[in-house]
Amino acid sequence: MPRTMRIAMVASECEPWAKTGGLADVVDALSRALGLPDPAGPGHEVDVYLPWYRGLNPPEGLVPLELRVPVGGPGGEPRHETVTLWSGEADGYRLRLVEHAPSFDRESFYMDGNSDYVDNPARFTLLGRAALEAIRAEARPVDVIHGHDWQAGPALLSLRHRYAGDPLLREVATMLTCHNLAYHGWTPRADAWQLDLPLDVGKHDGVDLLREAIKTADMVNTVSPNYARESLTPEFGAGLDDVLRARGDRYIGIINGIDTGLWDPATDPTLVAHYDASDLAPKARTRADLMARNGLDPDGPLLGLIGRLDPQKGFDLVTAAAPELVAMGARLIVLGTGHEHLVAGLQALAAQHPGRIAVLDRFDRSEARRIYAGADLFLMPSRFEPCGQGQLIAMRYATPPVVRHSGGLADTVVDADVDPARGNGFVFGPATPQALVDAVRRALAALADEARLAHIQANGMARDHSWRVPARGYEAAYRRAIAG
Ligand code: GLC
Repeated sequence: MPRTMRIAMVASECEPWAKTGGLADVVDALSRALGLPDPAGPGHEVDVYLPWYRGLNPPEGLVPLELRVPVGGPGGEPRHETVTLWSGEADGYRLRLVEHAPSFDRESFYMDGNSDYVDNPARFTLLGRAALEAIRAEARPVDVIHGHDWQAGPALLSLRHRYAGDPLLREVATMLTCHNLAYHGWTPRADAWQLDLPLDVGKHDGVDLLREAIKTADMVNTVSPNYARESLTPEFGAGLDDVLRARGDRYIGIINGIDTGLWDPATDPTLVAHYDASDLAPKARTRADLMARNGLDPDGPLLGLIGRLDPQKGFDLVTAAAPELVAMGARLIVLGTGHEHLVAGLQALAAQHPGRIAVLDRFDRSEARRIYAGADLFLMPSRFEPCGQGQLIAMRYATPPVVRHSGGLADTVVDADVDPARGNGFVFGPATPQALVDAVRRALAALADEARLAHIQANGMARDHSWRVPARGYEAAYRRAIAG
């Protein structure tokens, strides 16, 4: 029987407490998959360190622990901040909230309007060091510190550069998961004092936290095998392909799962009707409900889109393609917030096509679920997509995805024209409006053929979307990290 491990996650988001994107779902669901016992073995002991942001709704029964956390001053002088670490039980893991009002009691997680908070390096240094100080204060060694994205960079770098002599922390292995290589946590030289790290860390004009963390962690991964390969090239490496290549077989891809308990059309409480693979008929009622709620005229096929309105996600392709999609008879529902020009462009389209296009410029967990269920097709035209979660949920909700051949989308969606037996969706190559339109046209042809559609839906629902297999992948990676 494999030994139980102690794992400390350090992350800037975790569902349901703090979420702006897929990172939050992954940190929660992976921690639960590792923490709960399953047929393959006992659960591991998992702690998740998360900032206590404004408005966060904590679990019951939190227990406080006061910590004195060493940080740097502007002139390099040593200082300390006092933080309160609040610990409580989540489902499968222990949530540990780092309370420090000056750092985290703010309007948003990362940004002041359109620019990053200037003290982000200090804020996430505080998060990381609170985790390290908690391990020391409790004299409770962990096997692995698993950091997520650049925000965990200070934890991993502090461990190696400031706590290397600490008997409890010296032996701790580290793993870094890159959910998105586009965000580096760039810290200009003038702000680098906030990191309180030896000056030779990073390039001379500043510190690229993600780059340094990639170089430092014992194991590094990204969230799909295909994106792992793509990111070794200058085109997709976001300036980090050199350090990723240098990690050799210590850099791997592990595909994300979804929490199949939380995402289940048979039980989803937001839906007006429930269904499973044995009977999809009630799905039509979720569709009628969705269209009525949003003033859409029900007689054409409905395309759903959900996500950050960001050029990464290819929403500009949708805006450009929308008139032709509508001309083909399709209806469009878009849910998401983000770049103002994308929102404005989509809203202008909705105004031009009443009853055909609905744009919901908000973050809305419930409406998202109704779209996954009620849409006929789910669009994800991402320019790059490390893993993507929407396509997995859509398949589980029997809504075939139409995706660009990129990152994890290419690993999870099989084109039903290319491989009719295994197909679970539709895939297109070029990031152009025309390629998107062509793929939707192929998908609409399949929708018109009841037996074909049922086969594609069945394939999507039958895929194992759970965290069972990926959690084993992380376990194996932790063991490699520990083995050194
Ligand atoms: C980021 C990526 C997305 C991935 C998610 C969770 O948001 O852009 O592709 O699914 O992280 O790993």
